[in-house]
Amino acid sequence: EPLCRSGVWRFRELLPFAPAEKIVTIGEGQTPLHPSVGVAKYIGLEQDKLFLQYEGMNPSGSFKDNGMTAAFSHAHMIGAKRAACASTGNTSASLALYCCMSKLMQAVIFIGSGKISYGKLSQALDYGALTMQIAGDFDDAMQRVREISQKLGIYLVNSVNPFRLEGQKTIMLRVLESLDWEVPDWIVVPGGNLGNSSSFGKAFSELKELGLIDRVPRLAIINAAGADTLFELHENRGLRWNGGNPDRKIVDSYHAELDAAGQRADTIASAIEINRPVNLDKCLRALEQCHGVVREATDQQILDAKSQVGASGLGCEPASAASVAGAKMLREEGVIEPGERVVCILTGHQLKDPTATVAYHTSDQAEFNRVLGSRGVNTAAYANR
Ligand code: F0G
Repeated sequence: EPLCRSGVWRFRELLPFAPAEKIVTIGEGQTPLHPSVGVAKYIGLEQDKLFLQYEGMNPSGSFKDNGMTAAFSHAHMIGAKRAACASTGNTSASLALYCCMSKLMQAVIFIGSGKISYGKLSQALDYGALTMQIAGDFDDAMQRVREISQKLGIYLVNSVNPFRLEGQKTIMLRVLESLDWEVPDWIVVPGGNLGNSSSFGKAFSELKELGLIDRVPRLAIINAAGADTLFELHENRGLRWNGGNPDRKIVDSYHAELDAAGQRADTIASAIEINRPVNLDKCLRALEQCHGVVREATDQQILDAKSQVGASGLGCEPASAASVAGAKMLREEGVIEPGERVVCILTGHQLKDPTATVAYHTSDQAEFNRVLGSRGVNTAAYANR
């Protein structure tokens, strides 16, 4: 693939670490920004103010490919033969695909037990990754893979890897390009491991420094209510970037409380079922630079928003719809004004996680109960729309 056909590498002057001959690209980042009148109405915005950045259209079906091409190219630069990640499913699908297509490395994947949708798991398996389920959830898998990759010298591609974030900056470059470089008022993004939000903040502060934009948008990061560490720390406990010295006592005491209560992340949006985000500090910097806010969306709000994205003709997986649910919340609070231009990032494709979607729409009570029964979700909002 020529570099100019990659939506990441055609911006390579802004991520200048890889010599052209070492870049591994599979045509990632050719993703559109769509206006949506229907979703604007749902959120409560003027009809031409809402845009959806459709990252589900990447080769592996999620935004991860933007970062993976960069990390993978770096791994190739340094001669790595194996690359590993912990994943809720999208990072692993992406890594597996780059390994499979390039034949340069073996993918080694750690999944929390039962914590992955079959759409995502089937990608890793078909692409031939060494795929292991470990006892525990994503937070446990993340800790294990950090230890193991260090011990065995395996290249780690989770978003602790700074090259991942370099690639993900280009999502914002494409958004700006689609808007003729007119900076929108808001970027709204789901928050899990907080790599995206960190990279967006970096993109905007670099563009401003270069004089390519004259102001930065505000950033809204949306957690799932069952996995809301950033929301709790930033909105309720006042944790701030503080010039690179966020108050560790606030973070540690919150995690100690979670541990004492035996509380694990729990949400229908399995992609963001994370309580110990590895990019917390970088994300706090992005929140400061972009005058950001954090909100949390319940499973009900996420699934209702997801059905509206589906009705707009695009579709996304549950985690992605947190962005739309969060924008609606901020509009209702009056934080977002009806006339402001808002971009919501649709991080993953609708087909990634059909189980939740079918359960939400089905008239089969047993299937509904199996998937959503314990989550206090009702589907009246869609029926009445
Ligand atoms: N949306 C989707 C669809 C995701 O898969 C993820 C993360 C996020 C949002 C959160 O992004 O971590 O940058 O805040 N998925 C990771 C994975 C954890 O393993 O696939 P973030």
